[in-house]
Amino acid sequence: PQVRLCRTRRPQQDEGSMSDAWKRMAAEKALEDVRPGMKLGIGTGSTAEHFIRALGARVRDGLDVVGVPTSERTETLARSEGIQMTTLDHLPSLDLTVDGADEIDPQMNLIKGGGGALLREKIVAAASQRMVVIADASKLVPVLGGFPLPIEVVPFGLGATWRAVEKVFADLGLSGALSLRGGDDHPFVTDSGHYILDAALTEIRAPAALAAALVAIPGVAEHGLFIGLASKAYVAGPDGVATVT
Ligand code: 5RP
Repeated sequence: PQVRLCRTRRPQQDEGSMSDAWKRMAAEKALEDVRPGMKLGIGTGSTAEHFIRALGARVRDGLDVVGVPTSERTETLARSEGIQMTTLDHLPSLDLTVDGADEIDPQMNLIKGGGGALLREKIVAAASQRMVVIADASKLVPVLGGFPLPIEVVPFGLGATWRAVEKVFADLGLSGALSLRGGDDHPFVTDSGHYILDAALTEIRAPAALAAALVAIPGVAEHGLFIGLASKAYVAGPDGVATVT
């Protein structure tokens, strides 16, 4: 990927809020990719929420777009911002999806799902001609896997699915603990009624092989490896917003 730095103003906030300021800078940069009349996939997470608020301001100024949300909380926020929202049933093909990420590697493969929306995020990204990622610089990594890989699973047969996922890791020479997000007593439930297993793998050297093996498990609804889906990323840090293509 080529990195072009476009210098913009540096955030003046203290260290604690720098990352949020960078997320907002990346999100606002992505507005440059939005054209009147576009059908937009709209991501989930704190960076995506900056995008939704910035897009809402443009919509209230007269920009005509329609969005498809990647989660119920994104839909609620987008509607409250005045953005017209619909579904993939009405608009099965989108022009552009803008979404955050938990990790971005040099090939622009991603880990997503920290916010628990990975299944809908992947469906929406796959229905889009282009996916643009917005992130702060902490999300750039040389190798995926430092962030625990979210795996969305069907609650039925959880024990068997858990064991099958562990077998995939062992077959691929990966070691790392699996945990049920939210814990046994109060598991996190996704918008599609699934659970999430978080896999602490450290390094994923062959993400495509892992992705293929995970989706072959019947109880796996989807996993957070986004391979070949993103075409551009806006990554903001102390030197401004870098465009990664
Ligand atoms: C939600 C996601 C988010 O895009 C990802 O977790 C990044 O979140 P944030 O923008 O809050 O750092 O994949 O499922």
